[in-house]
Amino acid sequence: MDKILTLGIETSCDETAAAVLCGGRELLSNIISTQIPLHQKFGGVVPEIASRKHIVNIMPVIDEAITKAGVELKNINQIAVTKGPGLAGALLVGLSAAKSLAYALQIPLIGVNHLEGHIFANFLSAPELEPPFLSLVVSGGHTALIKMTGYNDFELLGQSRDDAAGEAFDKIARVMGLPYPGGPEIDKLAKLGDPNAITFPHPKVTGYDFSFSGLKSAVLNFLNTAQMKNETINAADVAASFQKTVVDTLAEKTLAAAEEFKLDKIVLAGGVAANSALEKTLRTACQRRGLKFFYPTKILCTDNAAMIACRGFYQSLEKKFADLTLNAVPNLGL
Ligand code: KG4
Ligand code: ZN
Repeated sequence: MDKILTLGIETSCDETAAAVLCGGRELLSNIISTQIPLHQKFGGVVPEIASRKHIVNIMPVIDEAITKAGVELKNINQIAVTKGPGLAGALLVGLSAAKSLAYALQIPLIGVNHLEGHIFANFLSAPELEPPFLSLVVSGGHTALIKMTGYNDFELLGQSRDDAAGEAFDKIARVMGLPYPGGPEIDKLAKLGDPNAITFPHPKVTGYDFSFSGLKSAVLNFLNTAQMKNETINAADVAASFQKTVVDTLAEKTLAAAEEFKLDKIVLAGGVAANSALEKTLRTACQRRGLKFFYPTKILCTDNAAMIACRGFYQSLEKKFADLTLNAVPNLGL
């Protein structure tokens, strides 16, 4: 039997994306049309603008994904689309396109959880990866530790009680006058600074939950106080010290969970997985402990439809299909 072709569609935030996947792991195309420059002048994503832009982009992006894959629409066997979490109006654009195509082509539709998609990006970067493993998902909206025992079996060990790690990066960058999205900017700036220059409080939450709002406030207070006193700050030191506090917290909990649950593979996922300090810290710690470390290639870390197609493919193996009543679930959890 020929391998299944899955068309993936992702429009949960500010990227309009489509991808074609052959079988579970062979990526034929991965098209991402980013709206970042459009939202930059507002310092963050404007939901109304995001929805409008998705409407303009969605069909050309899908067309490009099909063409680049070297297939035709009639060859597609199933469509996987992000149903949440994300911006309601943005999600609805992808869902409408996916439902219309699935109906017209008379093929199955699969509703995908965006956060699960982030974890599945790793299967595309590392074809040899298989569950069980421990995954740290760090994105703009979520921070979570997940034990994955099978392709469709997840156990949430802990998550952020307030801000997500990416959110803290973005808010601090904004106050420092850096462009949106702030995560990559802080990452760049931190390379020029001393991570031990300033001691920010380590978030103190027991178990595997996280909290970043206290740390965020401490950094913002530091910046405000300096401004009020007319003191010049070393922005690179602030970026490096803040980043180190976040990275140490994430790494500490991840390594403790791997030990407690006897998992020897650690899988990093989500936009913040692109952070060079987080990647380096976890890689070094894993090497020391004899654990295997996985993280997606840069393009698969941030939002894309390849990861949605991959997640959808594994759902389809268990016949987890949706019907045309599939709706957006903006607050969908793990
Ligand atoms: O997963 P993602 O693309 O979108 C969501 O699902 O939220 O993650 C976006 C987040 C943003 O907060 C962005 O600042 C952060 O990922 N990010 C980074 C880096 N690259 C992206 N944070 C820290 N360092 C980076 N290099
Ligand atoms: Zn995401």
